[in-house]
Amino acid sequence: MKLSLYVNGTLCHSEIAPGTTLLEFLRGKGLMGAKAGCDTGSCGLCTVWVDEVPILSCTYPAARAQGKHVTTIEGMRQQAALLGRYLAENGSEQCGYCSPGLIMTVLALEKEHPAATDAEISAYLAGNLCRCSGYAGQLAGIRAYLNRGKGALE
Ligand code: FES
Ligand code: FES
Repeated sequence: MKLSLYVNGTLCHSEIAPGTTLLEFLRGKGLMGAKAGCDTGSCGLCTVWVDEVPILSCTYPAARAQGKHVTTIEGMRQQAALLGRYLAENGSEQCGYCSPGLIMTVLALEKEHPAATDAEISAYLAGNLCRCSGYAGQLAGIRAYLNRGKGALE
């Protein structure tokens, strides 16, 4: 089928095979930020936004994105780099494989709940798994990121 959608603000037209997932489509376009992990909608590594809402691209049919606006971490470079600094400062990055999905989810959280409590942050990120770091460093980094401008690292 013919797929037309916006990717990071650019209109793209492509021919896709039936059953193509949005993750396969994006990685096929060279956008390798969203990672393949479980491929079953369970780990959050493949998180991107569709019309500003975070979704799991491994289980999201590309055809469903027809006419929509898809945002990947490549389209959020500045915000991702800043958040990444806070995560690294708090020791939450080890292999880093989960980071792109985590970052896309945290940036969505920031838009929806800029004053989120620690409990709200943990609940929002429940679908983003990390096999390396434990979650205390991630939470500290996210807390510091959301508190920036109040004397923290800029
Ligand atoms: S790869 Fe999509 S949720 Fe795990
Ligand atoms: S840092 Fe390795 S999976 Fe999260």
